[in-house]
Amino acid sequence: MTRQANVIIIGGGVAALQMARHLRLQYHVMILTKTSIRESNSYYAQGGIAAVIDKEDSFTAHANDTYSAGRYHHSVQEVQCLVEEGALAVKELLSEGFPADKSANGEISLGLEGAHGAKRIVHAGGDATGRHTVEHLLKSLPENVEIIEHEMAAEIILSSDRSACCGVKTIGKDGTCKNYFAQHIVMATGGAGALYPFTSNQQTLIGDGIAMAFRAGAEVADMEFMQFHPTLLFSQGETKGLVSEAVRGDGGVLVNEAGKRLMEGVHPLKDLAPRHITAYEIYKARARGEEVYIDIRKIRRFKEKYPTITALCRRNGLSIEEGLLPVAPGSHFLMGGIVVDTYGRTKVKGLYAIGETACTGVHGANRLASNSLLEGLVYGKRTAHFINHSPVVVPLEDQPLFKYEEQINGKTSSLLSKEVLQQSTMAAAGMIRTGSALKHHLQMLEALDMKDFMQKGIDDLSADEAERLFMQINSYLISRAAWLRTESRGAHIRSDYSEEDRNWSGKQIIQTIHATQIRRSFYEWNQARVHA
Ligand code: SIN
Repeated sequence: MTRQANVIIIGGGVAALQMARHLRLQYHVMILTKTSIRESNSYYAQGGIAAVIDKEDSFTAHANDTYSAGRYHHSVQEVQCLVEEGALAVKELLSEGFPADKSANGEISLGLEGAHGAKRIVHAGGDATGRHTVEHLLKSLPENVEIIEHEMAAEIILSSDRSACCGVKTIGKDGTCKNYFAQHIVMATGGAGALYPFTSNQQTLIGDGIAMAFRAGAEVADMEFMQFHPTLLFSQGETKGLVSEAVRGDGGVLVNEAGKRLMEGVHPLKDLAPRHITAYEIYKARARGEEVYIDIRKIRRFKEKYPTITALCRRNGLSIEEGLLPVAPGSHFLMGGIVVDTYGRTKVKGLYAIGETACTGVHGANRLASNSLLEGLVYGKRTAHFINHSPVVVPLEDQPLFKYEEQINGKTSSLLSKEVLQQSTMAAAGMIRTGSALKHHLQMLEALDMKDFMQKGIDDLSADEAERLFMQINSYLISRAAWLRTESRGAHIRSDYSEEDRNWSGKQIIQTIHATQIRRSFYEWNQARVHA
C-alpha cells in the first residue's frame, strides 16, 4: 500500500510536534510514530526547558554555561541561535497558556540544574514538564496534521541516483509494509539510550533515524558523545527511571552509605557540577563497592514538587520518608547524530533531522541540563519555516527509484539479541572506555556482516529484526568514533587517554557508508566570540 503527503515527520516528541504545528496549513503533514504519541522520551522528560526569561539573566550567560558543560565542542552560531530563539519559543508557549509552574507572587518560578550559573529552568507540573509540553503542543496541532501511530519507519526510499529522499518504507503493528512518499522527510526519532542496559530512555529509543539516514548516505557525527545521567533510581540491581537533576538544584546532595558528601572537593559546583563529572564520581564510588544516594531530607514538600519521582519510588518500594534515594548513572542523551545545517537539512536532498536525532553542534561533548526540550522547540520551528518557503514538487511516486541489488534477509542470524548487544555496548562503549575493549567490540561486529547491514535492502525483515539491525549499526558507529577519539572530552571518557587533548579540539568524527573522516567543520571553536 502507498500513501502520499507533503511532509512526513518520523517520531512524535517535542521537536516533531513543534514542527508540525508551524508548517503551512496547506501542507498535508503526517507524523509517523512506532509507538503511541504519548510514549516519547519527551513525554516522560522530568527536567524543564532552559530559557533566558529573568531580566538579570543573559544570552551570553546561557551560552557560556552551554559551552562549558559541552567542553567547547560547539557551533558558536548554533548555540547563539539556541539560546536566543529558545527564549522566544518559550515566551511563545507562555503566551499560548502553557501551564508553567509559578511562585506565590504569580511569577514563573525558575529552577536551577547542573552546570547552570543562574536559575533559568521553566517547569510545568513539577517534574512533569515533558508531559505538559507534549499535551500543549498536541492541543495546538492544526487539522492538516495526521498522526499515524504504531507504524515503524524502516528504510528511506531514495531516487534512482541515491541523491534525493522521496519517501519511507514502514512496518506496521501487524507486520504489513507500506510505502509513504513526500517531498520532505524529517527524522525526529530521538536518541539511542536504549543501546545500553542502564538507561533513562524508553526501550524503543535505539537511534532508528540515525541508522536509517546513515544507510541512505547522510553524514553522522559526534557519536562518541553519549551522555550518562548521574542519577537514575537504582533498585535490585537495575535502574528504574530518572531522579531529575532539579532535585539537586533544590538542595538534594549525593552521599555514600556513610553519609559522606560525594562531590565535596571535586568541583566548585559540587552536586551541580556538569553531568559527566557527577556521573563519573558516582561510577567510581559504585566501582569501589559503595552505594550512592541522593539525600533529599532538606527538600521541603518533596512529594508535591516531584510527583513523578515520588510515584517511581512508590512503584519500586522505596521510601521518600527515609530521605535517601539510591542512584546509579545510566545512558541519557546522545549529543551526536545526523549532521544537519541550521535548517535541519542533511546531505541527502529532501531529508531533514531535528531534535536529539540531529547533530547541529549545540550540545558539544556534553549537553547542558534542560537544553534538549529547548532544542526541539527551536529546530522544530526553524525547519518548519525553511520548508514553508520551499517550492511544492509533485508527484513523487512516479520518479525512478533506487532499488537495492541484494537484501539483508539471508543474514538475520548475524543480528544479535537486544540484551546481548546492550551488554556488549556497555562493556566497550559505556561510561569508561578503553581502546582495547572498543577494538574487540568493533571486530566482533565487523565479523557479523556489518558491511551488509549498512549497504543492503531491508525487504522482508520483521520490525524486531529491523530494530536489532539499527541497534547493531549504532553500536558500531558509537564504538568506532569512541575508538578513534584518543582523548577524553565531556561525556567521552577514555581511561587510556584520560585528558583533553588540544589536538582534538574542534575536530569531529564524521561517518558515512563510504568513509570515516576526522575534520574541522562548523564546530570551529572561536574563543574570541564566546568571551567577548
Ligand atoms: C533531568 O531532569 O535531570 C533531566 C533533564 C535533562 O536531561 O535536561
